[in-house]
Amino acid sequence: MGICYFINGALNTLLCDAADKPGLFFNNLLYNSHERKAVRRFFKCRSKRWLAQLFAGAVQGVHITMKRVYNFSAGPSMLPLPVLEQAQKELVCYGDSGMSVMEMSHRSAEFEEIIAGAESALRKLMNIPENYKVLFLQGGASTQFAAVPLNLLSGSGKADYIISGQFSKKAYDEAGKYGDVVVAASSKDKNFSYVPKVDRSSFRPDADYAHICYNNTIYGTKFPYIPETGDIPLVADMSSCIISEPVDVSKFGVIYAGAQKNMAPAGVTVVIIREDLLGRARPETPAMLNYKIMADNDSMYNTPPCYSIYMLKLVAEWVLSLGGLEEMQRMNQRKASALYDYLDSQDYYFAPVSAESRSMMNVTFVTGDETLDKKFAKEASAAGLKNLKGHRSVGGMRASIYNAMPYEGVVTLIEFMKEFAKNNPKG
Ligand SMILES: Cc1ncc(COP(=O)(O)O)c(C=O)c1O
Repeated sequence: MGICYFINGALNTLLCDAADKPGLFFNNLLYNSHERKAVRRFFKCRSKRWLAQLFAGAVQGVHITMKRVYNFSAGPSMLPLPVLEQAQKELVCYGDSGMSVMEMSHRSAEFEEIIAGAESALRKLMNIPENYKVLFLQGGASTQFAAVPLNLLSGSGKADYIISGQFSKKAYDEAGKYGDVVVAASSKDKNFSYVPKVDRSSFRPDADYAHICYNNTIYGTKFPYIPETGDIPLVADMSSCIISEPVDVSKFGVIYAGAQKNMAPAGVTVVIIREDLLGRARPETPAMLNYKIMADNDSMYNTPPCYSIYMLKLVAEWVLSLGGLEEMQRMNQRKASALYDYLDSQDYYFAPVSAESRSMMNVTFVTGDETLDKKFAKEASAAGLKNLKGHRSVGGMRASIYNAMPYEGVVTLIEFMKEFAKNNPKG
């Protein structure tokens, strides 16, 4: 029993940088004095050589634990390693609270500090103006497809949607249950391989809001511009591009995003809303979907997704520590350019998205042969490049290269693509 604790503890100690605090380590791991005594007795009887071997084994164990793949999943997706390590360090005991964040009351002083810290880090990162509220909600971005019309479709009862992919279509379908909702523009004609161009005249002048999906995760397109909507509040689903580059928040009435791509594990959904848009909810709006109720209760009308909020705080602080969104954009551009430059330089793979609408986060490509596409995803997975299969509705391949994907991951993918093309000539 004691030895298991030791090995476990040695790994933990190494990972947690706590090698200089052995006393703390023992106290944390061995709660009862009988166990502590037994472990001390056990070590006194061992030779130095034996201890060295044990430690070497533990180090190797750490190495094995730390071998991570390049995960190109569209979401949930990679989290930054330093963030995971920090979370690991604090997993069992957060600060001097004596408990995990997962075990903490959301009304405790510690958690209040965490949620306030998450909000202030996000505000700083995105330069969110004072007259905007930041909400930490649940239900994923899909719940926002209903929450947006419930909260905003209360004036003329009209809303205009740009359909640039599956998620914007889902949002449009949901909103249609609540009012007069129309398609202002669509790129369905070319299988959503581009983002439609719109201007002020594309929207009905009395619309309660206009809705876009800023980055289309499935198709790999992104709005290369922010649509001009005049005094019509612009609502944007930013689930797959939030905090990947600077955005001018003041151009939007509402920004929403599920966290599980760039911000945190699944569980928390961020809503950033201009204050004058609060208090317009339709009478039938459930309390849990009412932005004003959530804002008045600092996102704690009920129990919030505490652990995801804590992780979001760590991720936002990580991006700040790297230099903020300008630096993140530079890093993301470097990764995306490397991949697109390779795609443009050869004719084995084909990138179906029009050049000006290319996403920096989700890069789609095909070989033009479904059998080869399947083989590609399978062999890439075996080589440690995971989740490259395209969305089931479009096929081909998709490399999601969110903030946490290192440049080396993209370089390794490009090398794999070259090898695969060489070894699998087309007939
Ligand atoms: C752009 C976009 N919007 C909405 C969703 C749906 O998000 P959720 O699963 O959080 O409801 C996704 C999920 O992948 C997405 O990529």
